[in-house]
Amino acid sequence: MNARDEEIEESSFNETGNLRGDYNVTPWQVDGVVDYNKIVQDFGTRLITPEIIEKLRMFTGQIHPLLSRGFFFSHRDFDIVLDAYKNGENFYLYTGRGPSGHVHMGHLMPWFFTKHLQDTFRSRLLFQITDDEKFLYSQHLSLQDVEKYAYDNILDVIAMGFDPKLTRIIIDTKNIKALYPLYLEISKRLTFSTAKAVFGYRPSSNIGMISFPAIQAAPCFLPSLIEQKPTRVLIPAAIDQDPYWRITRDVAEKMGYYKPAQVHSKFVPSLEMNGKMSSSKPTSAIFTTDDPETIESKISGAYTGGQPSVGLQRMLGGDPDACPVFWYLSHFFDDGKVSFERSLKCRTGNLLCGECKSDLTIQTKLFISEFTRRRDQARNQIARFLYEDNPFD
Ligand code: TRP
Repeated sequence: MNARDEEIEESSFNETGNLRGDYNVTPWQVDGVVDYNKIVQDFGTRLITPEIIEKLRMFTGQIHPLLSRGFFFSHRDFDIVLDAYKNGENFYLYTGRGPSGHVHMGHLMPWFFTKHLQDTFRSRLLFQITDDEKFLYSQHLSLQDVEKYAYDNILDVIAMGFDPKLTRIIIDTKNIKALYPLYLEISKRLTFSTAKAVFGYRPSSNIGMISFPAIQAAPCFLPSLIEQKPTRVLIPAAIDQDPYWRITRDVAEKMGYYKPAQVHSKFVPSLEMNGKMSSSKPTSAIFTTDDPETIESKISGAYTGGQPSVGLQRMLGGDPDACPVFWYLSHFFDDGKVSFERSLKCRTGNLLCGECKSDLTIQTKLFISEFTRRRDQARNQIARFLYEDNPFD
């Protein structure tokens, strides 16, 4: 752990709590063209290096595509967790979801990686559903709305295939008893001035918002209570959640726990290619609840890296790096070789956007129809996954 890692750099945030620069990344909003190297510098995290990937390969045998494609690109203490594991120390996984709407394919990405880690290390997973957060931060969602989405989103979590023996879902409003003592210990150690600097609270922010970060921090330490000894936690999540972990790391050792470790992912591009996918803009994403016609029309209307006309495309070629259709194909469906060939054909003008869109439509429909089947099966499994007083018995 380097010193810079642990500092909350107040100066890098402007008065609304956003990072300065050409992009804007907060836990609630991502805009602009994100420079991931700059984020690593600004947030004080570390890039995932080939050495770390090799360390992981010792346990996994092969490298997960989300790592080899660079989707998970940054971390804090991932190497330390792997070294400790090698020395016989288990760790818990922790991730979560704010139930503000239906789940889209972008949300699934960190979950895929979490499942890969659970399968590899047989780790216990705590999955937090922050219905309280989405209620407090939303202008229009009622408690009934977030409760409805909480149970809807849990179906997606279960459909991912997490191991029911190793996975517990915490719904904040239902399981607050388990979190509350930790919430108190954490919030007592966090000042308003720190929270304001990190999250950009204003005098007009409601007071529930201001203390919410201590609720999201609590599951980082819950494993230590369950195991009755300090227990390491690794959090796979998109990098916009990092502010939460920064403040958590700041209080961890004072409370007698390990600092939680993280692996950070990039954002998933919008099908319309501005900012990350957003639940509030339904056409920018494919939801797990979309029917085949909706999938078809969203993909046919998607932005691409292609030229305005077939003639120009044949002559100049397209730009797969700026193409959400290519991004989806390469991150969800194409293997490395197919993806490389696709990008080559695109660049040389030998592939038209219509062909990629049609490939993506076919694959997505198959994927979502299988996912829907699993989601339906999940309905009678919810009870097995919910956190209870003796969570892993
Ligand atoms: N705040 C997250 C969201 O809005 C939800 C969340 C809670 C979470 N705990 C987490 C995400 C841990 C990743 C890891 O979606």
